[in-house]
Amino acid sequence: MPLNRINIIPSAYTQMKPVIAHRGASGHAPENTAAAIREAARLNAEWVEVDVTISSDNVAVVFHDSDVNRCTDGRGLVIQKTLAELKSLDAGTWYSPFNSDEKILTMTELLALANQLNLNLNIEIKPTIGRETETVWAMKQALKQVPFEHTLLLSSFNVHALYAAREFLPEYTRALNVEAIPRDWFNRLEEVGATGLHFAADFYDEAVIKDIHEAGTPMACYTVNDFETAQKMYRAGVQAVFTDYPERLILDARPVGLH
Ligand code: G3P
Ligand code: MG
Repeated sequence: MPLNRINIIPSAYTQMKPVIAHRGASGHAPENTAAAIREAARLNAEWVEVDVTISSDNVAVVFHDSDVNRCTDGRGLVIQKTLAELKSLDAGTWYSPFNSDEKILTMTELLALANQLNLNLNIEIKPTIGRETETVWAMKQALKQVPFEHTLLLSSFNVHALYAAREFLPEYTRALNVEAIPRDWFNRLEEVGATGLHFAADFYDEAVIKDIHEAGTPMACYTVNDFETAQKMYRAGVQAVFTDYPERLILDARPVGLH
C-alpha cells in the first residue's frame, strides 16, 4: 500500500516547547498584533499562539474577539467589516499610546512575520459561528500565498472548525480547546480527529491530567502567568503552557535587562 504523505508528517507536538506566548507576548504589547509577536520573539519564546477569524470579504485576520470594540478604536463585528475597513482601525492605542501604529494583521502578514522571526505558530481558529468552513478556507488561501517555514499547530473550541481543518488542511496537527477537561475527552478527540487537548488552568485536575498524559495525549494549558503554576503543570505531564509573560517562565534565556 502506498504511504500516505500526511501520515508520515510528525506531530507538531514533537517540536513543542514548554512556553507558548499567548496572543503574542500580550502582557507587554497589544494582543495579536505585530508588536506582540515581535515582543514574544525578543523574550525568547519559540512558539506563539494567535487567534484567527475572517473579514466580511473572507480574508483571514488575526483577532480574538468577535467585535472590534475592545481592541481597536472602532465598533461592530469583525465578520461584518471588509479587510479595508478592518485595516483602517487603530489596534494599538487601546493598550498604549505608544502602540498607535498597530493594525489588525492579515494571516499572510502573520505568516511572513513568523517566518522572519523563526517562530512556530499555534493558530487558534476563532470562527463566527456558522462561518467555520469559510474561515478555514481563508486560512488555506493564506498558507498558499505565504508558505509557512516552521511548525504550525491548529486548534479550536469549535468542532466545526476542526472538521473543516481536517478536510482542508489535513497536513497540520490539530488540538481541541476546552475550558474544563471533559470526562469523555478521549472520544471527543477521536471524534474531531485532534491529537492534543488544550484546557484552562482553572480546571487543573492532577489525577485526570496524569491519566491523559499516560495515555500519550499531549496537553497544553492556558493561561499561566506565574512560574510555580507552570512547574506544577509540567510535573503533572502538561507539555506546554500559554502565557502573556514569556520571560516569567523562560528563566534561563531572558534578554539583558529582565533578570
Ligand atoms: O488557545 C489557547 C487560548 O488562547 C484559548 O483561549 O480566549 O485566550 O483564545 P483564548
Ligand atoms: Mg486563543
